[in-house]
Amino acid sequence: MILLTGATGTVGAALLRRLTARSTPVRCLVRDPRGLGAHRVRVQITLGDLADSASFRNALRGVETVVHLAASIRDQPRASIEELNGMATLRLVRGAERAGARRFVFISALGASLQSPTRFFRSKALARAAVEKADLQTTVFAPSIVYTPGDPWLTLLERLTLLPVMPISGSGRSLYQPIWAEDVADCVVAALDLPGDGRRSFDLAGPEILSYEEIVRTALRPLGRRRPLVHVPLPVVRASLRGLERVTGHSAFATWEEAELMEEPMTTPRGTADAEALGVAPLRMSAVLGGP
Ligand SMILES: NC(=O)c1ccc[n+]([C@@H]2O[C@H](COP(=O)([O-])OP(=O)(O)OC[C@H]3O[C@@H](n4cnc5c(N)ncnc54)[C@H](OP(=O)(O)O)[C@@H]3O)[C@@H](O)[C@H]2O)c1
Repeated sequence: MILLTGATGTVGAALLRRLTARSTPVRCLVRDPRGLGAHRVRVQITLGDLADSASFRNALRGVETVVHLAASIRDQPRASIEELNGMATLRLVRGAERAGARRFVFISALGASLQSPTRFFRSKALARAAVEKADLQTTVFAPSIVYTPGDPWLTLLERLTLLPVMPISGSGRSLYQPIWAEDVADCVVAALDLPGDGRRSFDLAGPEILSYEEIVRTALRPLGRRRPLVHVPLPVVRASLRGLERVTGHSAFATWEEAELMEEPMTTPRGTADAEALGVAPLRMSAVLGGP
């Protein structure tokens, strides 16, 4: 039995499709099963929340492998970014050890370190350290930006094109190697098929290095909407988004913590090598999104 967290997310949905297609027994820890769509009749469901570690105990019963994808890039009403990513992962690891699981698969983020300027990256680094110290076989993936058509991030960019100019937070010069969620899911499935032994880690990157500004242009091209890009200085972005959060609370369309991630470079000198070692040849962003 695999315990999958984050099954309703961008990578989780792609992974769940693959696991159910091969009839792998899966239990999904979810806050709301409706997010699983039609898959909810093909899996075991355990209600849980990263903010509630007591919910992990039932979820972990009889589980051999944990695939932990759930994470948050913004504070939630019940817990902070640090609790949702760092503490929750540590508690899930401890729970998995106690429950007699054999293997723990985790997705960190490329470049995340305890010295990173952003809270999300620091929390991912803490989580990775907890996983890698676990008394379990571990597999850690560190992807660059992950996307799929229609995901919340590309949808936000699409909505912003309704404005006469396209606002870009900060310099837009940080570099990424965007990788399609379907390619990430293929890598996870391939890693699950490897003999479970020891500790493995994989950097996951797409085949091209793009600045954030180039990524936005690539995402806009298939929409056929040309907009001048306007760089908004970071102090202005921070003040505006902090002000917005004070008014709208946790439902803000964007938060400062999300915006500042666009200043965190996410590249690896390994390029696509780790994905290819798993038998996956990641596609270019323009090949996935299409456009002229
Ligand atoms: N997307 C990227 O660019 C990127 C880059 C590097 C690393 N990663 C990592 O890759 C993994 C998968 O990313 P993704 O893009 O698929 O994430 P995503 O689309 O944002 O999905 C997040 C998942 O976590 C779940 N979740 C959030 N808060 C939760 C809570 N309090 N309790 C239980 N579940 C909760 C969400 O469930 P709900 O349906 O309940 O919201 C959703 O299933 C994550 O660990 C992410 O940090 C992503």
